[in-house]
Amino acid sequence: MLQHLKFLTAGESHGKGLSGILEGFPAGVPLSEKFIARDLARRQKGHGRGGRMTIEKDHAEITSGLRHGYTLGSPIALWIQNKDWENWKLDKMSHEVPSHPVPEVTLPRPGHADLAGIQKFGFNDIRNVLERSSARETAMRVGLGAVCRAFLSELGIQVYSHVTQIGPVKATVDSKGLTININPDADASDVRCLDQTAGEAMIKHIDETRKVGDSVGGVFEVLASGLPPGLGSYAHWDRKLDARLAAAMMSINAMKSVSIGDGLDVGIVTGSQVHDEIIKKDDTIRRATNHAGGIEGGMSNGEIIQVQVTMKPIPTLAKPLHSVDIQTREPGIAHKERTDACAVPAASVIGEAMMALVLTDAILEKFGGDSLDQVKAHMAATGV
Ligand SMILES: Cc1cc2nc3c(=O)[nH]c(=O)nc-3n(C[C@H](O)[C@H](O)[C@H](O)COP(=O)(O)O)c2cc1C
Repeated sequence: MLQHLKFLTAGESHGKGLSGILEGFPAGVPLSEKFIARDLARRQKGHGRGGRMTIEKDHAEITSGLRHGYTLGSPIALWIQNKDWENWKLDKMSHEVPSHPVPEVTLPRPGHADLAGIQKFGFNDIRNVLERSSARETAMRVGLGAVCRAFLSELGIQVYSHVTQIGPVKATVDSKGLTININPDADASDVRCLDQTAGEAMIKHIDETRKVGDSVGGVFEVLASGLPPGLGSYAHWDRKLDARLAAAMMSINAMKSVSIGDGLDVGIVTGSQVHDEIIKKDDTIRRATNHAGGIEGGMSNGEIIQVQVTMKPIPTLAKPLHSVDIQTREPGIAHKERTDACAVPAASVIGEAMMALVLTDAILEKFGGDSLDQVKAHMAATGV
């Protein structure tokens, strides 16, 4: 669904590392590994993560596309080493045919890519599927998203997020009031929740769920401020900004619903309650409210973009569900792998990365330009 930018990631969860390439990104954007490291560290946090996150200290090395602190307009390549590879390289993840038998994973986990993945490729070892289907891949998306964040912040555009629900525990937050970057406040909470009382209840709920060997999902919201109107288009289905954001969010592992603005609530109210009246504000034409979540007709309307995303509970369970062995066809219990009990806070940071990638693409599509200065000049020329 990207119109101008291209990005690719590669890498297995316990492989040597993750590679990423971002193509079509403008020259002249200030960038550093330190800037990217901040978002990678934010993705590693959150109450409910498993043991893997204590092993990894994600750092993205910029291996191309940067000189003297500024992007060159050539492809930007990132490399994130998997520290855990040291523990896996000799047998389970060796690139060569192993010299001794390596245990195979044969009991697919309900809710994961395991069963459909082996049926698709004809494998008889689920590890061939689970290594790439793991959400470890999203570390690279966060790295590439941080590159886009560097570009967006030069244009005064901020992307931020917060967790609004874990399991049945809901935060009481007026997200219509979140007009400035609330990441510092969200990051100060172990569940990235702005409502402290609800945050404490969320942590308790995660602990109780983990104690009984289960997992839990939730909801987060990603917002973007400072956007010009007219990003995206009403003219074609695949140029609509809401469709592009929904696809980007849904592509994150375990995301099962995406809504925009008032989202699901728009189905139960009347038109006069949901459409944002047009008003004159300081000589500009604005909206009195933002029920639409910043998008109308597939285009940004200049208000804050608000996207809510629901994550299902993590599929790997400490107390696994029933399954069937793919080799013996005997009933058994699903494979157990080191796992998170809840990853909604981390998912919200990944949601920011996907929002940053889509918005960067939409800006380059609308304004064009090979360098940051050219993009800025084109934006100024259109009066935004
Ligand atoms: C940040 C993050 C961490 C995740 N951690 C785990 C995990 O530890 N164990 C697991 O089974 N699934 C985990 N998942 C979810 C699976 O990757 C996901 O459910 C799986 O790829 C199947 O895709 P689907 O749920 O979209 O169908 C995580 C997802 C995210 C976004």
